Amino acid sequence: MAEIARLSVGSEQLELPVFEGTEGERALDISKLRAQSGLITLDEGYVNTGSTRSAITFLDGEAGVLRYRGYPIETLCEHCDFVEVSYLLIYGELPTAKQLEDFRASIRRHTMLHEDIRQFYNGFPRDAHPMGTLASVVSALSTFYQDSLNPHDPQHVEVSIHRLLAKLPTIAAYSHKKSVGQPFIYPQNDLSYCENFLQMMFAVPCEPFESDPDFVHALNLLLICHADHEQNCSTSTVRMVGSADANLFASVAAGISALWGPLHGGANEAVVSMLEQIRDDGGDVQKYVRMAKDKDEGFRLMGFGHRVYKNFDPRAKIIQAACSKLLGKMSIRDPLFEIAQQLEEVALRDDYFVERRLYPNVDFYSGVIYRALGMPVPMFTVLFAMGRLPGWIAHWVEMMRSPTKRIYRPRQVYTGPTEREFVPVEKRG
Ligand code: ACO
Repeated sequence: MAEIARLSVGSEQLELPVFEGTEGERALDISKLRAQSGLITLDEGYVNTGSTRSAITFLDGEAGVLRYRGYPIETLCEHCDFVEVSYLLIYGELPTAKQLEDFRASIRRHTMLHEDIRQFYNGFPRDAHPMGTLASVVSALSTFYQDSLNPHDPQHVEVSIHRLLAKLPTIAAYSHKKSVGQPFIYPQNDLSYCENFLQMMFAVPCEPFESDPDFVHALNLLLICHADHEQNCSTSTVRMVGSADANLFASVAAGISALWGPLHGGANEAVVSMLEQIRDDGGDVQKYVRMAKDKDEGFRLMGFGHRVYKNFDPRAKIIQAACSKLLGKMSIRDPLFEIAQQLEEVALRDDYFVERRLYPNVDFYSGVIYRALGMPVPMFTVLFAMGRLPGWIAHWVEMMRSPTKRIYRPRQVYTGPTEREFVPVEKRG
């Protein structure tokens, strides 16, 4: 028997069913509230709104826990590569050896872009931000693959999933090559997912290229850590667009645009700019902590704070450790990493940050590690998009297959003028 919550509004008594998730999270089911009472709920920024039931990712922001399909992020980072985690997120179970081999083989077969898509890159300005290019080219995939756009045809969806996963690294690497004026490097299908991406990014036709296994390992970790984070802004965008039965390419292109925002995926770029600013300003970490606490300064410590995590972001811990290991192995002394560590130390002891429970988030160290991999700053958010892709796909598929799927359509409380008399333009003073 489901638990019932009782709400009294004036003289009215309303009963709301309480829905309980598998991890004990409880939610008031208000789907019938307006029909019963004429009331809606108001929750700007959806801080307290569960938009869906989902079986993909569990996170407990208070305890700093993150699990994909029940498996802790730390375990997946230790034992899997990104392609295996993508399979888990999208299909719900870890693959058998045969399933994984078939999945890898299929993705490898789809890595090339249609030659006409390559021509698009000539139309973008040389200094185009690669996130703008990425969103445009992913959207354009829907014009090239009209044979697989029906969101309710499982075969169409399956081939679109494989095409997207396979082509996103190629699209991303081409955006970079365009920006530096180097020839595009075709994918090489005997390489792993991450090796292939690094090759397309950094190889040039006139020299042999071999990717460093430590770089490949670090890239796998970063992509896994970004692979899903339940109903974040970009994933909710993908669901929102998909809820109108838009095809997978169009829905993911919208997610990429949402991710570009500096309060979301763009934060890793902003973190590096901030660390550079601190370095160039003499490295006085305390000064920037003071500025972040002063509301009149309008300055925030980028990479700190999270809507959901009120504890250490478990991904930040994994990435910090990987960063430290990689820089150590490469014998690099990166002043930005040192400033980041000092900043973390100071902020974690400061009352302002402690009271508000502001901890380093996933973006705080990811920018430093991307720098160590030789990634140009504008590519940071593109890498986030590559990592988040399986999560977007998994949520889009889950929503499409849900028997209770409806178009997303929030309501509002109107606060504008009530009906007014129209005044013709010549009489307006
Ligand atoms: N630096 C200084 N103060 C901060 C910071 C910060 N980075 N983040 C939050 N605060 C303060 C706010 O000023 C506010 O203080 P107040 O209560 O005195 O007014 C309080 O902490 C709560 O902050 P909100 O903005 O209400 O928290 P919200 O959940 O809306 O925002 C967000 C979360 C956007 C991540 C915010 O912490 C922020 O702007 N951080 C910096 C940007 C960033 O790192 N974004 C990446 C997020 S992770 C991701 O997308 C993968």
